[in-house]
This record gives sequence, C-alpha cells and structure tokens, in this order.
Amino acid sequence: MSTGEVTAPLLQLQGVGKSYGGFRAVDDVTLTVTAGERHAVIGPNGAGKTTLFNLVAGTLRVSRGRVLLSGRDVTRAGEHRRARAGVGRTFQHSSLFATQTCAENVALAVRRCLGIGMSLRVPTRARGLIADQVAELIERVGLIERADHLVGDLSHGERRQLEVAMALAGNPALLLFDEPTAGMSPSESDQFTNLVRALPRTLTVLLIEHDLDVVFSVADRISVLATGRLLEQGPPQQIRSSAQVEAVYLGSGHDEVFIA
Ligand SMILES: Nc1ncnc2c1ncn2[C@@H]1O[C@H](COP(=O)(O)OP(=O)(O)OP(=O)(O)O)[C@@H](O)[C@H]1O
Ligand SMILES: [Mg+2]
Repeated sequence: MSTGEVTAPLLQLQGVGKSYGGFRAVDDVTLTVTAGERHAVIGPNGAGKTTLFNLVAGTLRVSRGRVLLSGRDVTRAGEHRRARAGVGRTFQHSSLFATQTCAENVALAVRRCLGIGMSLRVPTRARGLIADQVAELIERVGLIERADHLVGDLSHGERRQLEVAMALAGNPALLLFDEPTAGMSPSESDQFTNLVRALPRTLTVLLIEHDLDVVFSVADRISVLATGRLLEQGPPQQIRSSAQVEAVYLGSGHDEVFIA
C-alpha cells in the first residue's frame, strides 16, 4: 500500500465457542474482520450465525475463546459496553414506535446515544443539533420524503431502512445486520443492497444474509458456517466456486441458493 498503512483488524474472534449443555452452537470460530470490510456470514439454518452475532454484540457470553474490538479484549464486556465500544446492530421491529413518525423514532435513537433519552430539559442549541443529525440520518437511508410519516404507514422495506438510521445514530464502528432483507420484495432488497453499499468505509459491516445475490454484491469476504464451525472463508468468487460449500447447502436442501 502506497501510504504504508496496515489494514487494522476491527474485529477478532479467537477460538470462540458457545455451548448449550453438551451442544456446540458455535464451535471454535477464529475470524478477523478488517476495518472498513464488508463481511458476510452465510450457512444453512441452525449453523450458528445468529449465535455468533450475539457473541460479537455481547448479548451472549462466549463459552470459550476471546473477542477483540480494535485490538481491545471485550470478551467479558456486556452488550452496553460493547455498544459504547462501537458495536451497532439493526433493531428488531418491536423497537420502532408505530404511532410516531420516522423523524421522531430517529430523534429518540439520537437522544438515547447522547444520554438524554426522553428528558424534556434539552438546551435549544442541542435541539438544533439533534434535528440536524436526524435529518442527515434519514437522508442517508433514503427516507427523507417519509420523515414525517408514521412508522405504522411504512412498508416493511422502509422500516428496515429506518432501523439502519437508528443503528447509525450511535455512530458505530461495526454494524451487524442479521438477515436484513428477510421478507423484502426484490425491489426493496435491491434498494437495501444499495443502501449498504453506499455506507462509508469508515464503517465495518458484518452481515448475515440468506440471499446470495445480496451477499455477492455487498461482501468483500464471506465466512461459511455449518454446524457451528467455520467451513470456509474467502472472497465471493472463491465461495461461489467452492465444492465444499455447495455440498453443505445441497446436503441441507439449500441447493436453490447456489443457482444465483
Ligand atoms: N438458547 C439456546 N439453547 C439451546 N440451543 C440453542 C439456543 N440458541 C440457539 N440454539 C441452537 O443453536 C443452533 C444455532 O442457532 P442459530 O440461531 O445461531 O442459527 P442460525 O445460523 O442463525 O440459523 P437461521 O439461519 O435459522 O437463523 C441451532 O441448532 C439452535 O437450535
Ligand atoms: Mg439466525
């Protein structure tokens, strides 16, 4: 690299495992995601993808191994500390207030991140800054024309776009998406893909996704999980032509995903 800059690891998983009794939902996963990378995790149902995400977000504690963020060991840090350390994830539907507007929902996320929550005593200057940030976030996810619409009136795809704006409010270094295009129409899915592609490279993205069209058009590298273990890792062209990966999908009745 001309600058002599070394691409720093943003996330390192070292021999990470999660067991439920004797069952290993995630088993000895070692994975490095560099800063700015778009990294997809794919694998059949029950492979351990969501469990792995929860281990990254701190929602679940590892049974074995270590989790490092920007070189700092956060293995014992809970969800809130990891969020403060830069881990963001898209919210579930239930976290959106259907009877409030898009702008009001995003404003709440911004206020939460500023530590002022629902407080009514916000200085006028801060109100202006919040409003500017809300407008910028809503614009970034392509919802500017819907800013004053109630969330209850949004389409499924628009709600997921709004969830991205809310996740971005925390200014995360790492953004986790767990099957963001599930339930979307093809055009919503295309729009979402463009949104993720347009996110700045200052943000690192870890994405679980079943739609391989989305995966191949977004990801720089792909990790394949099967029965909790990392089966293969590499750039899209390697994964696309991997006989081992194809066998896992064929074996679980997911052959259709490889037609893409
Ligand atoms: N709390 C739990 N207790 C016991 N087993 C669990 C628990 N959570 C997950 N599992 C099991 O761990 C395995 C991995 O689950 P996980 O949800 O991580 O899979 P996934 O790859 O996200 O699947 P999907 O594609 O269906 O979302 C599954 O066999 C699941 O049944
Ligand atoms: Mg899952």
